[in-house]
Amino acid sequence: MTQRVLTGITTTGTPHLGNYVGAIRPAIAASREPGVESFFFLADYHALIKCDDPARIARSRLEIAATWLAAGLDTERVTFYAQSDIPEITELNWLLTCVTAKGQMNRAHAYKASVDANVAKDEDPDANITMGLYCYPILMAADILMFNAHRVPVGRDQIQHIEMARDVAMRFNHLYGGGKDLFVLPEAEIEDAVATLPGLDGRKMSKSYDNTVPLFEGGPKALQQAIARVVTDSKLPGEPKDPEGAHLVTLFDAFADAAQRETFRADLRAGLAWGEAKQRLVDLIEAHVGPMRARYAELVAHPEQIESVLQAGADKARARATPFLKELRHAVGLRRMVASAAVEAKAGPAHKAELAVFKQYREADGQFYFKLTTAHGDLLLQSQAFAEGRVAGAWVKRFKTEGAAPLAEAPVSLAEGVSREAVEAALAALQAHEAAEQAAKASKAAQA
Ligand code: TRP
Repeated sequence: MTQRVLTGITTTGTPHLGNYVGAIRPAIAASREPGVESFFFLADYHALIKCDDPARIARSRLEIAATWLAAGLDTERVTFYAQSDIPEITELNWLLTCVTAKGQMNRAHAYKASVDANVAKDEDPDANITMGLYCYPILMAADILMFNAHRVPVGRDQIQHIEMARDVAMRFNHLYGGGKDLFVLPEAEIEDAVATLPGLDGRKMSKSYDNTVPLFEGGPKALQQAIARVVTDSKLPGEPKDPEGAHLVTLFDAFADAAQRETFRADLRAGLAWGEAKQRLVDLIEAHVGPMRARYAELVAHPEQIESVLQAGADKARARATPFLKELRHAVGLRRMVASAAVEAKAGPAHKAELAVFKQYREADGQFYFKLTTAHGDLLLQSQAFAEGRVAGAWVKRFKTEGAAPLAEAPVSLAEGVSREAVEAALAALQAHEAAEQAAKASKAAQA
């Protein structure tokens, strides 16, 4: 069975080398596996929770999308979209909000951490906490459940959010599934094999530690400058160095093959200078990143290309989201009323696209006619000839307002093979539609 894998990238910053090695590269690699259907998206609604600077949000959306594309994401294979282009997600967010226990949101780590920070500062516990932050896990559940993802690759800090998504899904299934599972229960996928990349100071590379190496920004020069700042021990050139535990080596490993790793270690043990080792690391990273950087620059210079990729992705995503949301709305009781109304039972399909159509026309003989056809053009009713178009028009009008009633007296005949009941139903539907139109017009006029 195809496994759906889904993950979101919050669009607040600019991707660094750690994001590339820890998230982007493994996700793209995983998306190439057979039997996997991947959904990757810009979590730009989530970004609004963390950032209220519109320029920064806009820039980050562009940079993150360009990064994923430059890194080799195959958008034919995966569904790549912006969360904010899928209105069904916010709609589902509400359906889920209504079945989520407030107490559970009280226990969310991100919210609790903010409360704790406020309390520590002797402030009001909820100071500066928005409802967006509070309800963050529900929106995330909507992201995941909208596409019934089986697996969600995330960092450890997100495990609780996936558990909450499971809980909400279970509750929704129980309340509304009627014995059927509307939602798949998602599983967090923690990639322990992918080592977190150390930053300049050896702690995890992260914007909040200000220890990052830029991925594309600033070109080779910025890369060189960042690597020059990687902390090493103070062993002099020629002195043997211990490769194990050196952050520089961990960074090197993230881009090297087995043979390169071997040589690098041997040379360090033999006294390779740190300065030279750093240059080798720069060259190695540049060999990987250089070609992508060129592609990245081209994309950022042509945002219309990125936008069209995202729009195509949104179309693909919505092709699933739209019918699924319809099913969910139905499940919770948000249904078309006409489906059960007596008028529809008589009138047949309520969609305008399905309604029968009257056509008035004049033949070569100079006479006037009208006919009724199905929406697909099949003849239902054919009139006799009229000398005056006005008379034909008057009959059509009567049918539209009175439905099947004039059938008995009108100079018309049923088309061959068509039952009287079918024609009556078609006329009743037209009449109901006409009446609804008139009522709408009247209420509009009353409001004006
Ligand atoms: N909250 C995630 C993060 O900060 C981003 C995210 C939003 C996400 N929606 C998601 C991740 C759905 C996985 C699935 O990393």
